[in-house]
Amino acid sequence: MQKNTFTLEYEVFESSEALSDDDRELLASARQSTALAYAPYSQFQVGATAMLLNGKTIHGTNQENASYPVGICAERVLLSSAATMYPNVPIHTMAIAYRNLQGDSNRPISPCGLCRQTMVEFENRTGQPFRVILSGMEGEVYIIPSANGLLPLSFTKSDLLNGTTK
Ligand code: THU
Repeated sequence: MQKNTFTLEYEVFESSEALSDDDRELLASARQSTALAYAPYSQFQVGATAMLLNGKTIHGTNQENASYPVGICAERVLLSSAATMYPNVPIHTMAIAYRNLQGDSNRPISPCGLCRQTMVEFENRTGQPFRVILSGMEGEVYIIPSANGLLPLSFTKSDLLNGTTK
């Protein structure tokens, strides 16, 4: 028997003021895009903005539905748009922000499991990890070096290809 350990190293900044110009701009854009969310049920508006390697910027916001499970998170809206508008173009950095209309928005949140899975697939299909910036409308900012780090032991295409056929 052996014990394995996962570690996730990420950066913590006191506020967006401490970020590089590019990162601060991207986060500001994600914060701004929360206003485009359609979140009448949760009142929790999420905005994501990504800088692609081709220099284009793309946005995503959560889009809810009266049939609750139909709703889709900001991150997956963004990734679907990116893959459709600019096929095979990797993401350099994705910033994710939120505005909680019923509470505080002053600490980072991190993506749900479905979004993490989708982010890992995006990294794999484009062959490039991307940085993830997490924050609310104010306060601390986390920078995660790669989406893959958020989903240890993830299930990927290679598991399907190497799986045994029974
Ligand atoms: N949501 C996102 O869009 N991204 C996240 O990272 C967390 C949650 C959305 C889903 C739902 O519309 C609302 O936030 C509350 O869960």
